[in-house]
Amino acid sequence: MENSKVLLVYSGGLDTSVCIPLMRQEYGYKNVVTVTVDVGQDPADIQQAAEKAKILGTEHYTVDAKEEFAKDFCFAAVRANGDYQGYPMSTSIARPLIAAKAVEVAKKLGVKAFAHGCTGKGNDQFRIEFGIRTLLPDSLIHAPVRERNMTRTWEIEYAKKNNVPIQQSLEKIWSIDENLWGRSIEGGRLEEPDFTPPEEIFQWTRSVEKTPDKSTELKIQFKKGNPVSLNGEYLTPAQLVLKLNALAGENGIGRLDIMEDRMMGLKVRENYECPAATVLLKAHKALENLVLTRDEIRFKKTVDQEWSKLAYEGLWWDPFKSNLEFFINGTQERVTGEVRLKLYKGQISILGRQSHWALYSEDLASFDSTTFDQRESTGAVKNFGMQSRMYFQLKEKYQKEL
Ligand code: ARG
Repeated sequence: MENSKVLLVYSGGLDTSVCIPLMRQEYGYKNVVTVTVDVGQDPADIQQAAEKAKILGTEHYTVDAKEEFAKDFCFAAVRANGDYQGYPMSTSIARPLIAAKAVEVAKKLGVKAFAHGCTGKGNDQFRIEFGIRTLLPDSLIHAPVRERNMTRTWEIEYAKKNNVPIQQSLEKIWSIDENLWGRSIEGGRLEEPDFTPPEEIFQWTRSVEKTPDKSTELKIQFKKGNPVSLNGEYLTPAQLVLKLNALAGENGIGRLDIMEDRMMGLKVRENYECPAATVLLKAHKALENLVLTRDEIRFKKTVDQEWSKLAYEGLWWDPFKSNLEFFINGTQERVTGEVRLKLYKGQISILGRQSHWALYSEDLASFDSTTFDQRESTGAVKNFGMQSRMYFQLKEKYQKEL
C-alpha cells in the first residue's frame, strides 16, 4: 500500500523524535523513513540522529548537502548581500535545500507523505512546506507539533512512554539550529528582550574579553561575486566558510542579538553566531563599492532587500526571486578582485581592496594631478540646485499664500 510510508524530515531533536512513534500510533503509518540533511551542523548531532533513528526502527538516510548549501545558497546570499533585520538568514536559506533533499529521497522511494517537527509559531513551517509543495505538488504534509498544539512537557512525557531517547534533549535547555552559515540559539528566557544571554550559549565565537591580543589579517579573493580563496589558498565553498568561521569566531566576530519580526508577526529576540557570513558580507560590499556604478549600488540595495525578504520567507523558487537574481548576477559579473581585512576583538576593518574592474582612476581623483581640470567644474557648480534656489526665492515672495 502506497500510503503506508511517511518521510519525516529529521534532526534528531525532541520535536522530530516524538514524531516517529506518533506517526505510527496516531497517524497510522506502518513505516517511517527519516531523512537528516547535513548542511554543516555539528557532526555529533548528525551521528546522534542516525543512532536514534536506528533505536526507533526507521529507514534512515543522511544526505550530505554541505557543498551544495555553501555554493548555491550561502554564496547566493553573499551576491545579494543577504540580510534580514541584520541577520544573514542562516536558518532561513537552509530550509529550502532541506525540503529539496527530502523530496529527492521521497521520489526515489515513491513516498508522497511527509512530516516535520516545526512548531506553529515559527517561520520554518512556511519554508519547509513551501519547498515540499513546490517540488512535489501532490504531497501530503503532516505537522504534528503544530496540529496537536504540543507543549514541551507533553512531548517529554510522550517520549518517555514510548522509549524515545531524550536524555540529550532534556539536558539541552536551548533550541539550537546550526549550519555552515550560522548558529541560532533560542528558547527559555533567551526570547525575552531584556535577558542577558549567558556566555554558555556561544560556541563558535569567543567573547571579546577572551580574544587574542594580536590581530588576524586576511585576504579574500572574489570571482563574479563568489568568494574563491582565503589567504591565497583556493578552497571549495564549504571549506572556505568553515575555515573562516574558525578564524573569525576566534576573534569574537559574528555575534548578533536582534529583535526579529517573524513571518507570523511575532517579535522575538534572537541570538546568532555567524562569523564567516559577517566577514564575507562585509568584504563583498567593499568590493562592490569599488566596481559598481553609483546608480547600480543605490538600486541594488533595494533589489537586495527584496531578495532578502523572499529568502527569509523561504520562497526560494519564486519567479520574483529569479528575476531579482537576473539583476543581481548581472552586476556580479564584475565583482572580481581581492579584499584585505583585519579581524580584531570583534571588529572587522577593511585594509584594502583591488580589482581590474575598479571604477577608480588615481589620475582623476588625486589631489596632485591636473588631468581633471578643476576650472571645468565652475559651470556645473553654478547651476547646481537651480530649482531649489528658485523655490527658495518664490517662497519668500509668496509666503502669505502658504
Ligand atoms: N528565527 C530564525 C529564522 O527564522 C531562526 C530559527 C532557528 N530555530 C532554532 N530552533 N534555533 O530564520
